[in-house]
Amino acid sequence: MADKPRLTTTAGAPVPDNQNSITAGERGPVLLQDYQLIEKLAHQNRERIPERVVHAKGWGAYGTLKITGDISRFTRAKALQPGAETPLILRFSTVAGELGAADAERDVRGFAIKFYTEDGNWDLVGNNTPVFFVRDPYKFPDFIHTQKRHPRTNLRSNTAMWDFWSLSPESLHQVTILMSDRGLPVSPMHMNGYGSHTYSFWNDKGERYWVKFHFKTLQGHKFHTNEEAEKVVGKTRESYQEALFGAIERGEFPKWKMQVQIMPELDAEKTPYNPFDLTKVWPHADYPPIDVGILELNRNPDNYFAEIEQVAFSPSNIVPGISWSPDKMLQARIFSYADAHRYRLGTHYEALPVNAPRCPVHHYHKDGQMNFFGHRAGNPDAYYEPNSFNGPVEDSSAKEPPLRISGDADRYNHRIGNDDYSQPRALFNLFDEGQKNRLFNNIAAAMAGVPGEIIERQLAHFDKVHPDYGNGVRKALKAHYGYEAGAAAATPQAAE
Ligand code: NDP
Ligand code: HEM
Repeated sequence: MADKPRLTTTAGAPVPDNQNSITAGERGPVLLQDYQLIEKLAHQNRERIPERVVHAKGWGAYGTLKITGDISRFTRAKALQPGAETPLILRFSTVAGELGAADAERDVRGFAIKFYTEDGNWDLVGNNTPVFFVRDPYKFPDFIHTQKRHPRTNLRSNTAMWDFWSLSPESLHQVTILMSDRGLPVSPMHMNGYGSHTYSFWNDKGERYWVKFHFKTLQGHKFHTNEEAEKVVGKTRESYQEALFGAIERGEFPKWKMQVQIMPELDAEKTPYNPFDLTKVWPHADYPPIDVGILELNRNPDNYFAEIEQVAFSPSNIVPGISWSPDKMLQARIFSYADAHRYRLGTHYEALPVNAPRCPVHHYHKDGQMNFFGHRAGNPDAYYEPNSFNGPVEDSSAKEPPLRISGDADRYNHRIGNDDYSQPRALFNLFDEGQKNRLFNNIAAAMAGVPGEIIERQLAHFDKVHPDYGNGVRKALKAHYGYEAGAAAATPQAAE
């Protein structure tokens, strides 16, 4: 006992015995008065919180962003000024799997960063892909339903996925990335991160620019084939956690080069594509990436639950100099994340140590469950605003320039007049023969059990991207299942 800390109750009193329950007689039943026994059981029943509705499985670490370039003419954000160094936490994730899912599964990866800046937290909640499956947030819950388990079989459903995708051609770009090599990186260190949406910068002169954020891996891209991944998962379901945690413990700190693409505000009216459409990239030839700095991960969390499970990212967290754009998807996310956090973590999730800003915080929110932080306005008389008690006041210098908007409020059909094929074609044309063949095979493998009618609808989309794309998938379907047009489904053949 001499050099060990004393075990106490949660109320701080010493625990005299942590091995034996209080029983009526040596062999007798336990007594209700054994509060410590009850406390241990009751606490255990409350150890789980709801897992994230998407991106449940994740891996994270702390690090820094060092600014080496100069983009001060575009933004006044303090964290992006030359020489700035900002602490951060980054959580990677897969989208569809539950909390216990295997790491080496084909899926889009989350790439969520919380920058603890001196002007408050800036969260960039991105993915390892520059685009997304849908462009209207109305379709996000439907899309996610196709990624999660079927209500009756409780199994993932290839039919649901391809049914939805084949009826939503805007998904083609992201589906092509997901089914390509980059859909299954070997570790979080070997993939890029993208802010994906168009965001905005504004500077001291009140000028606005549109911006896309990119984080290019300096470890190089590495991927698993489906066959390799099956072997990895057969050995360990935690390959990402092992790789990331291990690398940081060994002092091998992973790094990414941060880049931005910048579009002057008025260019948005001239581009042949809608620059606020999340299914599109901005071609590099039109908006070349500009080097901004280096992001490094260099510290593992001490407590996975407290720091990685409870970290709460939200695109609503912006800081002066950085803002949103009219992207409909981004607009919906501004609402959705903080709402998810209130449900998953509780009213005061932002006061949890991992989420707490590392700058002074003053507001007039009052009370609420689990409030442990006293008077956030600074003094007990200032609990409303305006007041005569020197309570915190607004800072108009943080106001962003007004946003030009025009048009009639309506439900505009986003599938009319949108080219869903050119950018997937540009990507397809980047692939070499090996990459194309793996793409065809990955798609065929993911179509196991899918009805012919749905397959044919999807093949028609691939044909429109490039005839070689459709035909490549046709050949792979024939090889995998003996499938041909007119067959009822891509039925896996019984092993001989
Ligand atoms: P560029 O040739 O200028 O850019 C190609 C981009 O594609 C590079 O950023 C490269 O990323 C990435 N890339 C290269 N090989 C692959 C691959 N096998 N799988 C996925 N991405 C790859 O052309 P554009 O800017 O005109 O873009 C062409 C297509 O490239 C787009 O339609 C899009 O699908 C894809 N792309 C474009 C990005 C953009 O912001 N413009 C970003 C990422 C992809 P890296 O430097 O990491 O190798
Ligand atoms: C997590 C909603 C699109 C990236 C989440 C969560 C919700 C959500 C509710 C769980 C949050 C939590 O419990 O902490 C939505 C909605 C979307 C959308 C409504 C579209 C309308 C996107 C897009 C991206 C993205 C386009 C990437 C560009 C992520 C990431 C996480 C996440 C990385 C995990 C964050 C973490 O590590 O905690 N999303 N999402 N989501 N989402 Fe989205």
